Amino acid sequence: MNNSQLKRKMEYPYEEAKPRRQIAYVFDTNKCIACQTCTVACKTTWTAGRGEETIFFNNVETKPYGGYPLRWDVNLLRELKNQRWSADGSYEGSTIFEQTAPGERVRGWRPAERDYAYPNIGEDEVVGMLEKGAFFNGMHGSWMFYLARICNHCSYPACLAACPRKAIYKREEDGIVLIDQSRCRGYKECVKACPYKKTFYNMVTRVSEKCIGCYPLIEKGEQPRCVTTCIGKIRMQGFMEDAKEPRKDNPIDMIVRIRKVALPLYPQYGTQPNVYYVPPIHVPSDFLMQMFGPSVKEAVATYRNIYDDRELLAAFLLFGNTTKIIHSYRAEDHFAVGYNELGDEIVRIPYTEPVHVRAYYDEKIGTYRHNTP
Ligand code: SF4
Ligand code: SF4
Ligand code: F3S
Repeated sequence: MNNSQLKRKMEYPYEEAKPRRQIAYVFDTNKCIACQTCTVACKTTWTAGRGEETIFFNNVETKPYGGYPLRWDVNLLRELKNQRWSADGSYEGSTIFEQTAPGERVRGWRPAERDYAYPNIGEDEVVGMLEKGAFFNGMHGSWMFYLARICNHCSYPACLAACPRKAIYKREEDGIVLIDQSRCRGYKECVKACPYKKTFYNMVTRVSEKCIGCYPLIEKGEQPRCVTTCIGKIRMQGFMEDAKEPRKDNPIDMIVRIRKVALPLYPQYGTQPNVYYVPPIHVPSDFLMQMFGPSVKEAVATYRNIYDDRELLAAFLLFGNTTKIIHSYRAEDHFAVGYNELGDEIVRIPYTEPVHVRAYYDEKIGTYRHNTP
């Protein structure tokens, strides 16, 4: 298989399912405030039943110390050999499909029950010590950031490759990865194999569950719940067409494949995930490189200069401003405009919000307006 994120061929122990188009998300980590509205919106929509108490299709953790389930990333990173990238951006190390034990299809590990007991561990913990009396002076000496996580609806899903029952499939129409609950027999190989730990075993129903990409909404042309409820407007969901032909008027293509300002999470695992992150601009780049791959510095530099790039800015302005899926967009002189699949306008956002100054005395209702202390 060709893994475009690793810029090389890769072993994958299953036939490739190439969807007509691929669901994709962009999350801007710089705007996330960890309010957990997405987590609650998803939980109340999909996982409020019996046995689903510790199932979070969406969670938000504080990096570097947070992680749900516990140490989900560290445990695997420790095992993967030689995670080096060459100068041309291709991956030299092993993926989870290439570094397997005899008889194993995917390198993985299965969390213990206790690892699901602390969904908010490490929240707001920063790297480094703060001196007594320290205050923020414009520079971040210490750092942390919030990482919102859902299933990546990977192009090469490890969960799918590992299931002995072939209970997991990737939809042809949009690339959403689903577990067929009637086929699943609870072998938990998917839980072990998913490097992002985004399939969950339900101990009451004795079958596994995962993020369904809110497919009932997608089928109606609406973006998922975790996207439309996001208070920080950090998310956009759309589609990516054939990797060879990025479309300039597709906001996801513009952000991910043309300007390359959003990057996959742990691409070295090899699953070619389809949630793309704008890296946090205040975090040391060696940490970010391990997390988002070798082009982190360029992505951060592009993001910092976004005000000079009208087309990119327009794509970002469309985040969180419509519940509908934006299939194409245009950067007009004063507005970013989004369109649905039929080409109808569905959202129009000004580059600069108008400022309305209200009169001190309102004659219409005969009252004064003033700021109260
Ligand atoms: Fe499967 Fe995990 Fe990829 Fe989701 S993130 S498609 S559960 S391997
Ligand atoms: Fe939950 Fe839907 Fe978001 Fe998946 S896409 S995390 S099911 S709200
Ligand atoms: Fe397969 Fe996972 Fe079920 S491995 S059988 S989908 S628990």
